[in-house]
Amino acid sequence: MSDPATFFGRIAEAYDATRDPLPEEAVDALAARLRERAGPALLEVGVGTGRVAAPLTARGLAVVGIDAARPMLARARAKGVARLLQGSAEALPFRDGAVDGVLFVHVLQLLPDAPRALSESVRVGRHGAFALLSPADPADPPCPPEDDATPLLVDALRRRGVEQPRLRNIRAWEGRFLEELPPSDLAVLFDRERTRPLTEPLESVRRLASRQFERVPPEVLLAAVAEVADRLGDRTRRVRERHVLAHWRADTLGPRRD
Ligand SMILES: C[S@@+](CC[C@H](N)C(=O)[O-])C[C@H]1O[C@@H](n2cnc3c(N)ncnc32)[C@H](O)[C@@H]1O
Repeated sequence: MSDPATFFGRIAEAYDATRDPLPEEAVDALAARLRERAGPALLEVGVGTGRVAAPLTARGLAVVGIDAARPMLARARAKGVARLLQGSAEALPFRDGAVDGVLFVHVLQLLPDAPRALSESVRVGRHGAFALLSPADPADPPCPPEDDATPLLVDALRRRGVEQPRLRNIRAWEGRFLEELPPSDLAVLFDRERTRPLTEPLESVRRLASRQFERVPPEVLLAAVAEVADRLGDRTRRVRERHVLAHWRADTLGPRRD
């Protein structure tokens, strides 16, 4: 796999079409919680195209965004996120306590050493670091294998002679991360059921915007996606969408990791 900054730099144009915007109620709850627990001056690390920073800015928060990929920042700037800089989560170019809080959304799982990035962020965030996560809940019923697009896709690739490396389950990773580094507090911001087309997980793959499949030749990948989409048809499934906000204060993270 290429490094995340190179990958996201390459797919910046397609990124927004492959990720759902956060539901309005989730952004309202996120903005309110950040204001209450930290304050209005925030740094979003891995701000990307401003998918979250732009609606937070529209709600009156003063968000500075940092990202390793310049093309992603260009998209965020076009959405009105004015204060942006290129840089890395591992060494934030800010003095201690420069902002009220530091926010991560869909970033921690990409970092080679997420606990270290968290330590760096609680140095910069006066009231600590926050991560918007959707951790797996063991109470959720698993998707029946015959309806699960991603393993079906892996199988379709295997039949075409492509051995796909083991896929990472990000929701499971987030669940483990919370167990390994328990936050100071955790708030459920949004918890709803919705109807999801079984083919939804194929969308980012179809747009060649899934890092996990980036080594597969596009023509082989698109043929496999078409086969699985055909098989799943227009069937849907009820799924639970849950966003939580984890908050780590410096004193709960233990000694700084360098
Ligand atoms: C999946 S996107 C998330 C973007 C945005 N937070 C969102 O939720 O839509 C991950 C972003 O993190 C950035 N990124 C990855 N590794 C990084 C690092 N070490 N330092 C800073 N940004 C990084 C990528 O360039 C990309 O824009």
